[in-house]
Amino acid sequence: PKHLLDFHDWSTERLNAILDNADTMSKVLDRPVKKVPALQGLTVCTVFFENSTRTRISFELAARRMSADVVSFAASSSSLSKGESLRDTIETLTAYKIDAYVVRHSASGAAHAVARFSGKPTINAGDGLRAHPTQALLDAYTIRREYGELKGRRVAIIGDIRHSRVARSNAELLTRLGASVVLCGPATLLPRDLAGEGVTLTTDAKAAVKGADAVMALRLQTERMDAGYLGSLPEYIAGYQVNEALLEDAAPNAIVLHPGPMNRDLEISADTADGPRSRVLKQVEHGQAVRMSVLYHLLVGRG
Ligand code: CP
Repeated sequence: PKHLLDFHDWSTERLNAILDNADTMSKVLDRPVKKVPALQGLTVCTVFFENSTRTRISFELAARRMSADVVSFAASSSSLSKGESLRDTIETLTAYKIDAYVVRHSASGAAHAVARFSGKPTINAGDGLRAHPTQALLDAYTIRREYGELKGRRVAIIGDIRHSRVARSNAELLTRLGASVVLCGPATLLPRDLAGEGVTLTTDAKAAVKGADAVMALRLQTERMDAGYLGSLPEYIAGYQVNEALLEDAAPNAIVLHPGPMNRDLEISADTADGPRSRVLKQVEHGQAVRMSVLYHLLVGRG
C-alpha cells in the first residue's frame, strides 16, 4: 500500500515485515552513530492538529535518523487561523515538494483526506477515535520482543476504550497477528460493537487480567468525553486502575504497557508504572525503530 492510514489494505505478511525490519532499525539505534542514508534527498512533513510528544518527536527523529529532511507543520501557528482550508494547506505544502506526510487530527478520516489532497505517501499518526496504526505496531513489537511472537498471547486493554483509537488499532492488529484481546472498562466506556473474532469485552477488570500476558492501561480521554461517561473517579480507580493488586491473577511474567501520556495513580498506579513489569519506556524506545521501519517501507521498499 502507498499509505498507512489503517490496517485494512495491509496484508499480515507486510505487517510482519514492518516488525521484522524494526529489529534492523533497533540495531541502527544501538550504534554510536545512529544514522543511515536510506531517505537522503526526501522530505517528510509532520502535520499535527492535536498535541503530541511521543508520536511527533519519534517520527521526526526516525526520518532524520534515515537522513530525510523534516519539516514540522504546527496547526496552531499556521495560516489555518486566517481561514485557510485543510485542502489548500496540504496543496501548499505539497508545492514545496514534500515526499511524505505524517498526520494527526481530531477528526476521524482526516489522514485519508491528506492522502487524497497530497497524492503522497501518508501515515496516520492518530485520527479522532478511529485509528493510530503506528502505536499498535510499536505495542505489538514490544510484546513480540518480550515473547518472541504474538501467537497465542492474551492481551488485556483496560480503561477508556470508547475514545481510544489505540484500542481499536490494537484490537485489529494483535488479533491479525494471532493474539487474543480483551477490552475492559466501565459499560459507558466500552462500545459493544468492538467485540469480534479474537476480541472479547468485559466490565470486570479482574476477569480481563486473569492469565493475561500483557496488560495495557489507557488514559481517560476527558477532552473527548461527554458528561456522564465517567461517573465517580474514585469508583473508576477502585474498579479499573492497573495496579499490583489487579495484576495478581495475570500470567506470572505479565508485562504492563501504556501508550502514554500517563496520568499516574489514575488509570495506572505510579508503582506499577515504575515497577519491574512496566515496559512503558520500552514502548517509547521501540516507537522510533518501528516508525523508521514504516517510513522505509513506504518511501523506499515499496512493491
Ligand atoms: N501515544 C501517543 O500517541 O502519545 P503522544 O500523544 O504523546 O504522541
